[in-house]
Amino acid sequence: MAPEIVTLPHSDIPQAWYNVLADLPVPLAPPLHPGTGQPLVAADLAPIFPLALIEQEMSGEKWIPIPAEVREQYKIWRPTPLVRAVRLEQALGTNCRIYFKNESISPAGSHKLNTALAQAYYNKQEGVKRITTETGAGQWGSSMAFACQLFGLECVIYMVKSSYHQKPYRRSLMHIWGGTVHASPSDRTNAGRAILAATPDTPGSLGIAISEAVEDAATHADTKYTLGSVLNHVILHQSVIGLETKQQLKLAGETPDTLIGCVGGGSNFGGFALPFLPEKLARPELRLIAVEPSACPSLTKGVFAYDFGDTGKLTPLVKMFTLGHTFVPEGIHAGGLRYHGTAPIVAHLANLKLIESRAITQNTVFAGALQFARTEGFVPAPETAHAIAATIAEAKKNDGKCIVMCYSGHGHFDMSAYDAHLAGDLEDYEHPEAKIAEALHHLPKVN
Ligand SMILES: Cc1ncc(COP(=O)(O)O)c(C=O)c1O
Repeated sequence: MAPEIVTLPHSDIPQAWYNVLADLPVPLAPPLHPGTGQPLVAADLAPIFPLALIEQEMSGEKWIPIPAEVREQYKIWRPTPLVRAVRLEQALGTNCRIYFKNESISPAGSHKLNTALAQAYYNKQEGVKRITTETGAGQWGSSMAFACQLFGLECVIYMVKSSYHQKPYRRSLMHIWGGTVHASPSDRTNAGRAILAATPDTPGSLGIAISEAVEDAATHADTKYTLGSVLNHVILHQSVIGLETKQQLKLAGETPDTLIGCVGGGSNFGGFALPFLPEKLARPELRLIAVEPSACPSLTKGVFAYDFGDTGKLTPLVKMFTLGHTFVPEGIHAGGLRYHGTAPIVAHLANLKLIESRAITQNTVFAGALQFARTEGFVPAPETAHAIAATIAEAKKNDGKCIVMCYSGHGHFDMSAYDAHLAGDLEDYEHPEAKIAEALHHLPKVN
């Protein structure tokens, strides 16, 4: 019988991050300069990112050492446990083995702190004083606020307006850790003012909040921008999740059949599943499943094309699965999954059919979350619940597989969403085909 919980000592926190770029069977399409359409060079990113992170973004090195100062702070909650969900297995009556890697035990409540600490560290090293960022669910904003607190940096957060109002206590958490929070779109930036003038009642989106945070950083000399997902260096930092999981599965005597994670920008899924890419290439039956909301189905219904990462067209063009940078998703409760695009690395591997994807509607997601909470006890974030719903669907096949899921965060600040589900007030949204076609008209022309 495999153990119910596999823990590791501090000494097993990985010494180096794993860079999947070194193992890609086909190289990534290069990011392009939004003005010239030419491949990006390091100097293009220097106004908004510190050099160490730009180097990591472009590095082909397979292993990148984790600085001692970052490993020291990882000790606050890492290594995280790998837990066998025996009570959920029993409730489902499945002969599958279900494990979850519990990233919710970080102080901010999710995997986001894995990269927030690293990004704050490198900015501090290079003399940056002030950090801007965006946040959807508030998990990333609170992680960045805490990381800035630890490394002595000022943190300014543009929080998507729908989440700003849905999740006031996430805001409180950011304030506790010294962050300043603005509802986005705001009147503090040109990008925000333009969107407010055109659509005063917009719920906001990650694409809009990114434009505001980038503009703020680009117009203040002491300030740099940080992003909580999508970029190569973010997936790099998140690889601690998958590296630990590999070691824990070995200790449990397990070989995984299926790895499942939710995808907003792609960082928890990428960090968790992609350290297994060499294994997937050697053993094609290993399945990597990315799960997204039906209301924002970039991987399942988007196109694989160059697009802007933000609504205000300030970011580089990257090749990804996109619903179009003008797309504003419905105000679903999984705020962290309301992003029009996907990490280029995840998109590239999905395009190569090395990753599967599926989309799930919010009531099915919350039904899965309740079943998990009522058996395993932990109350998941709505984003995480997408991975849970897909895990339950896989386990119901009753085919004796070993399913491992990334439990990316807790839902302790999402009670209004749970209340709405319990009251039968949650709406399911399918993203209409006509809207996709309309948004795709606005894709940039790339030669
Ligand atoms: C708990 C949680 N899981 C998942 C995500 C999705 O982000 P990513 O795809 O970058 O992991 C978020 C984003 O805010 C989140 O808060």
